[in-house]
Amino acid sequence: MSTTTHILLGQTLSFVGDPFLTPLEDAVRFERSGAVALGDGKVLAVGAADDIARPEGAKIVDYGDGLIMAGFVDAHLHYPQTGIIASWGKRLIDWLNSYTFPEEARLADPDYAREIAKRYFDIALSNGTTTSLSYATIHPSSVDAYFTEAQSRGLRALAGKTCMDRNAPDNLRDTAQSAYDDSKALLEKWHNVERLGYAITPRFSPTSTPEQLSALGALWAEHPDCLMQTHISEQHEEIAWVHDLFPDARDYLDTYEAHGLLGARAVYGHAIYLTEREQSRLKEVGAGLVHCPTSNTFIGSGIFETARMKADGQRVGLATDTGGGSSFSMLRTMAAAYELSQLKGQPLHPAQLMWLATCGSADVLHLSDKVGNLAVGMEADLIVLDLASTPAIEQRSRRAGDIWEAVFPTIMMGDDRATKAVWVGGKPARL
Ligand code: GUN
Ligand code: ZN
Repeated sequence: MSTTTHILLGQTLSFVGDPFLTPLEDAVRFERSGAVALGDGKVLAVGAADDIARPEGAKIVDYGDGLIMAGFVDAHLHYPQTGIIASWGKRLIDWLNSYTFPEEARLADPDYAREIAKRYFDIALSNGTTTSLSYATIHPSSVDAYFTEAQSRGLRALAGKTCMDRNAPDNLRDTAQSAYDDSKALLEKWHNVERLGYAITPRFSPTSTPEQLSALGALWAEHPDCLMQTHISEQHEEIAWVHDLFPDARDYLDTYEAHGLLGARAVYGHAIYLTEREQSRLKEVGAGLVHCPTSNTFIGSGIFETARMKADGQRVGLATDTGGGSSFSMLRTMAAAYELSQLKGQPLHPAQLMWLATCGSADVLHLSDKVGNLAVGMEADLIVLDLASTPAIEQRSRRAGDIWEAVFPTIMMGDDRATKAVWVGGKPARL
């Protein structure tokens, strides 16, 4: 029996179903006057405040009207790009060459990598993100920097060494063999250590030779419980480049599939321009797609059709894609997803947006039994949102007729000021 150490009081939001597939009233549990019991780093109970026992010795923390929910899960980002977020005026390949690669080269210095990892987690936590799946750089020490920082904060976090053996500057290239060896050593060092997990990480097909893709496919086959993350079909020029580089491939996905880099634990960023074959193959294997809406507008990539992909039965998560994405905030990311869905005439409901940023992303990372929902037995990574964090938001939410009208102004206009509190592993995090 776990002992309750804390009782949090506030409004509570949990999912018991997927609001893309289930009527809202069956997918969501909301308590206007709710309580959450925590103990041993886990959620022990959630419900109406009157129904939750308050054992002697448990500390009660009253958040008033604050909305207690699962911490956000950011399913695709590049922590090394923290320092170059919001760099102006390029499309993908130009943006990589002009801003990204020079900055990623700086992370060869382990001190700089540590500084950036610390800065990234400070910002992510202040925005309510409690789990992240990040790309590191090609330098193994950049993976160490990320995991060391996450571990010191008790966070559940995932990452992998980015592998590139062509079409990248000399100082950012490894080889097929060194990518395999370094990734294997890092995986053995970090995978399943406390709350950390390793993701095998070929950057994308244009920057890996077939030999490197094969080597990483072989590594994944040896460690099938790891995730594998990469990019797919983000921009037209990129897709044309992939066709030139892999003339025998049926399509972009085939450049991965042919080398053992397709499976249920694959996490593909962007996936905007999928062919019918790619879509049906992805669904067949149950791979994850990650929508990165602020990046897709910022770099001018296009519109991922979230509602259509969900209706098709795809596994979909949501992510900032820092720093191709223009915000560290999953609230801002939800707003961008909403705006893009409006351009397709498929407006996403606030419950669907919240689900994508928590349960959806956790599902893509195969962590649904651990994080991404406020439910009994889950790890106690929680956030408390202030639904009136600015005067503009407050005056709109004051008129709200229900919880979704109260939440939507924060989704559309909120930022880190909306993060009233963050709990990591059952303990309050310092923000
Ligand atoms: N494709 C390959 N690398 C990257 C990257 O760093 N950011 C984005 N947005 N797309 C990529
Ligand atoms: Zn990316």
